[in-house]
Amino acid sequence: MKATFLGLDIGTSSIKALLIDEQQTVVAEASVAVSISRPHPLWSEQDPDEWWQACLTAIAQVGQSAPEAFAALHGIGLSGQQHGAVLLDGEGKVLRPAILWNDGRCGREAEELQASLPDFIALASNIAMVGFTAPKVLWVRRHEPEVFKKTRKILLPKDYIRFRLSGAYIAEMSDAGGTLWHDIAGRQWDDTLLAAGGIDRSYVGDLVEGSAASAMFSDELSNAWGLAKNAVVIAGGAGDNAAAAVGIGAVKGGQGLLSMGTSGVLFAVTDRLLTKPDRALNAMCHALPGRWHVMGVTLSAASALSWFADVIGKGDKVGELIAEVEAFAANPAELSNAPVFVPYLTGERTPHNDPEANGIFSGLRAQHSHAAMAYAVMEGVAFCFADDFDVLADSGAELTSCFWVGGGARSRFWGQMLSDVIQFPLDLPAGAETGAALGAARLGMLAAGAGTEAEICFKPDIKLRYQPDAAKKSIYQPRLNRFRAMYEAERHVRAMAIK
Ligand code: XUL
Repeated sequence: MKATFLGLDIGTSSIKALLIDEQQTVVAEASVAVSISRPHPLWSEQDPDEWWQACLTAIAQVGQSAPEAFAALHGIGLSGQQHGAVLLDGEGKVLRPAILWNDGRCGREAEELQASLPDFIALASNIAMVGFTAPKVLWVRRHEPEVFKKTRKILLPKDYIRFRLSGAYIAEMSDAGGTLWHDIAGRQWDDTLLAAGGIDRSYVGDLVEGSAASAMFSDELSNAWGLAKNAVVIAGGAGDNAAAAVGIGAVKGGQGLLSMGTSGVLFAVTDRLLTKPDRALNAMCHALPGRWHVMGVTLSAASALSWFADVIGKGDKVGELIAEVEAFAANPAELSNAPVFVPYLTGERTPHNDPEANGIFSGLRAQHSHAAMAYAVMEGVAFCFADDFDVLADSGAELTSCFWVGGGARSRFWGQMLSDVIQFPLDLPAGAETGAALGAARLGMLAAGAGTEAEICFKPDIKLRYQPDAAKKSIYQPRLNRFRAMYEAERHVRAMAIK
């Protein structure tokens, strides 16, 4: 058996392990669910030890289903949910549950952090969002001082798994920007930002590039898994979105990815650091040297349609609902009178950074059916991506190509609608989607020297290209204008605090 490579993705709902060979054929895969705990409103936590046990189970499953291939393991790459804070004591023991990216408890700390340095935004290249790591640590310092006193290391989720695999405290470029302690242009920790966050370099791991070798499996694990000592190199890895980009071959400036999952992401690779912090664009390093990325995040994407399907009792019939929407949309005369929907059901990140923003239906009339409303929901999600495109352009990023992935990409109707709304072609990849785990495995290949970047990070074949229909602009533009105005109106109503 020739060399094999493992991608391990520390997702929020599951841990995924993907074993590939040198041709990137999938040899084995496993997925193990992990639970989230929400002990108080706005809190979202996970037990890092549960991640680790799930990683062990997933790796064991892969090893059992392809023992010969697993024995030929040469490299592993890690990817994972970004921003989560794992606090360890001097012995590497976890001090409290990890506070996750979707935890909203530290609004006050985020505001104070941003106000603490006049040039905070210029240094961090991002605004201090509640999802990011530094405000979470400041929250612990304020509310759990005993825990903070014992804290010696703070790792991101995938970096904690690296620590368990190897014993090494290492961090990686693409994820580091999401801490707000990182000099993203200089690709190094920033002492001023670390100090503003109440810590210093001794708390954070040494930084490596995503495709560089970071550590080896510990002897103990190599023995337990029947692997030779020092045979498996662990790549730096990547935050989940950067890893997904590597997995789909978005590695050069201008290449992008639009992902329609529970939340939605528009990701574009850039050749230099571009930012647009005042419009809540994430700007960070890419997982490959000398490149960066910008990313717009929309919090309710495919989940907005699942929510509406649930509300009307069609939670298990989303496909049927989309077919009804298609029938509705086949009559263009209906479209300009359809309701308009803003899908901020769990707030919105880009372009508003507004966790309190709400969902809104407007323009409802007695004649409107549930299909008209579902049409508005799908269109509203497409409008969120139109905003992301707008912010991206505002940062100076130029997209030259864009893949369209995620659960929502199963709908051709939605793909065409999205392309018409953003007036940009979208490429649907052929073949099964292996996302961030494949990107992680590719980084493992690069770190193990299994080929060049061009050989390893190729693009998949395109199954279908959605071409924008210029004539549709006149239908969507006035509705997009209404969508934007509705958010502003709702924000004003909220500020009036009408009881
Ligand atoms: C990115 C972000 C999420 C997490 C979870 O900024 O918060 O995409 O990485 O997947």
